[in-house]
Amino acid sequence: MKDISIGIIGGTGGMGRWLADLLQKGGYQVIVLGRKTKMPLDELTSSCAVVVVSVPIAATADVIKQVGPLMPAKSLLMDLTSLKKEPVELMLANSQAEVIGCHPLFGPNMENPAGQNIVLCQARGNKWYDWLKKLWLANGLQVLETSPERHDAIMAIVQALNHLNTITLGLALAETAIPLNEIKKYSTPIFQTKEAIVKKIFTESPLLYKDIIIRNPDVGKILDIYDKALADIRRAIQSRNSDEFKDLLEKTAKILF
Ligand SMILES: NC(=O)c1ccc[n+]([C@@H]2O[C@H](COP(=O)([O-])OP(=O)(O)OC[C@H]3O[C@@H](n4cnc5c(N)ncnc54)[C@H](OP(=O)(O)O)[C@@H]3O)[C@@H](O)[C@H]2O)c1
Repeated sequence: MKDISIGIIGGTGGMGRWLADLLQKGGYQVIVLGRKTKMPLDELTSSCAVVVVSVPIAATADVIKQVGPLMPAKSLLMDLTSLKKEPVELMLANSQAEVIGCHPLFGPNMENPAGQNIVLCQARGNKWYDWLKKLWLANGLQVLETSPERHDAIMAIVQALNHLNTITLGLALAETAIPLNEIKKYSTPIFQTKEAIVKKIFTESPLLYKDIIIRNPDVGKILDIYDKALADIRRAIQSRNSDEFKDLLEKTAKILF
């Protein structure tokens, strides 16, 4: 299998570059495309048995619609998008190729991915699926096999809810009358950790986080849950019964842990 060439559309950027490095270290031929690369897509698809789409979420649909029809049935079309339902449906609808939806649950700075989680959604065909699963396992990754719908429902929690929570903290910090630099002088270890996460989300890839949240099909449910949680907390804090807040925490701890 190592004599195959793998094309990565978006291979000049974060996750695409990460995958290109991993494949090249494994002895594969890799061709990377960015927006400025001159190679036409039909040249890429005729040289590569596998094409990976790893472009920003907002550009993914258009790229799949362009490359999908050029892929032969015996080839593999796959993606690394952080959402799975729409890209997998589009890859199936726009190509005859084998199709796999893939989502690494970590960022591109992960030099050694051993022990990290990666999601696979098998959509069409077995041959390339076996190859890809073995590739991840050989690199020490934990492979999670699920449907695109289940993936997106869980990512609504692991990513959308999680990042919404961080963004809420960032907005609230910006609303206080005290500048962050002054607040930070009084940091506790937990505050330091959370402030670093807020900084990462607001400054590193705001576009990625925005799309991970607003394009998740289950984000409406998550907003309702978030609103209810805040309303429950407000009610418990404002209640004249001083036990209500403690009861809310204890009841929730029993559900969670
Ligand atoms: N970053 C993460 O933590 C992470 C984790 C897991 C999955 N993902 C997924 O990985 C994918 C790529 O994200 P990323 O963070 O790696 O993005 P990125 O660092 O911004 O890289 C994007 C890549 O796509 C190319 N590109 C940008 N706009 C394009 C367009 N309109 N048409 C074609 N190519 C375009 C860029 O090429 P040039 O800039 O060279 O033109 C670059 O190679 C996304 O689907 C994201 O959901 C990201």
